[in-house]
Formats: sequence, structure tokens, C-alpha cells
Amino acid sequence: MVTGQVRTPTPPTARRQAANESRFGRRFLLGFMGASAGAFALSFTVVPLFVTKVLEIAVQEIAPGDQLVYSAIGLNGAAAGTPVKASDVQQGLSVQAFPKGKADNQQNLIELVRIAAGEGPDGLLAYSAICTHLGCVVMAKLVQGELACPCHNSHFAPENGAVASGPAPRPLPSLPIAVGADGTITATGPFNAPVGVI
Ligand code: FES
Repeated sequence: MVTGQVRTPTPPTARRQAANESRFGRRFLLGFMGASAGAFALSFTVVPLFVTKVLEIAVQEIAPGDQLVYSAIGLNGAAAGTPVKASDVQQGLSVQAFPKGKADNQQNLIELVRIAAGEGPDGLLAYSAICTHLGCVVMAKLVQGELACPCHNSHFAPENGAVASGPAPRPLPSLPIAVGADGTITATGPFNAPVGVI
């Protein structure tokens, strides 16, 4: 005599439902694995493109034809980004400027100085504002007749950017400029030497 539990047979409908659920589970798992693999592969394409784009933005250098704009609130209360006019920069004054649209690159910062009376291009000179010693921003002190770096006390001549004293190993690179009929200032070439620390 056989004793024990009596097993109730699974109805066909329940078996079909269980089979369907199992197939759905396998499909879901395969789909998930496929999506994960796709996302992993895509990351190798999208991330380098993103990094390349960021680097492109970061290295925008000054180029001929770039208009010079105030880097911060400028003379006569001009807002940052406003074009600098040659007549704004009177003898003994200075302005820090960027090439328009390229302020993201600090290496583009320019020190405009006027060393002789006038309102046009004569006596108006442009230099890199980045010290050639360790890269601090140089300040114009034209009353004292100098461009000075506050970090380690390098001094440069406003007439030609040459090192007058201090640890800076090279002159400040100069930038060729032109003054347009409307008085705005544009670069006519790149800096004449590498900017900052080399
Ligand atoms: S960074 Fe200008 S003197 Fe050192």
C-alpha cells in the first residue's frame, strides 16, 4: 500500500502561464543585458566626443580680426564684453581686454596701454597680461611707468614689454592691433611669442 501526500496535477492553463512567465523573464534579462552592453559601448563614443568638444572650447586662441572687448566693467562704466574704443584709453590709462567671444581662455587676456597722447592707434600698445614667470596677471602702473606682476615683483617696460626687473625670464608677448573707423580695436595677428609659462 502506498502512503503519502496526494499530488494535485497542475492544470494546463497554469502550466501555460508559468511557461509564458519564464519566457518573459528570459526576454527581459536578455533585453537588459543588451541595453547595458549598448550603453557601455556608446560611452566609448560619446564621452570622447564630449571631452573633445570641451577641449575645443578651452583652447580658443586669439586670431587676426578678433575685436577686443572689456574683460570686466571698464572705463566710463562700460560693461564686460563691450568693445573697447581707442579713444577710451587716454594717455596713462590701461584696460584689460579679451578677444570677443574668447574669454574662456585666460591665456587670451590682454593689457592695453596708451603711452603717448592721442585717440588713435599711435601710442596704443597691447601685451599679453599673463606674466612670463609663473603666469600671474600683470597690472599696469603707468603712473610709475611700468607693468608690474604682484606675485613675485617682476616689472616690464610699457614701451616694449621688456623685463625691467624681477624673475620673469622673457618679455611680455605683444599683440599687433589696428583701430577701425568706428574706433574699435582688432587684433591683426597672434601674440609675437608664446604666452605665459613655457
Ligand atoms: S608670476 Fe609674475 S613674477 Fe612670478
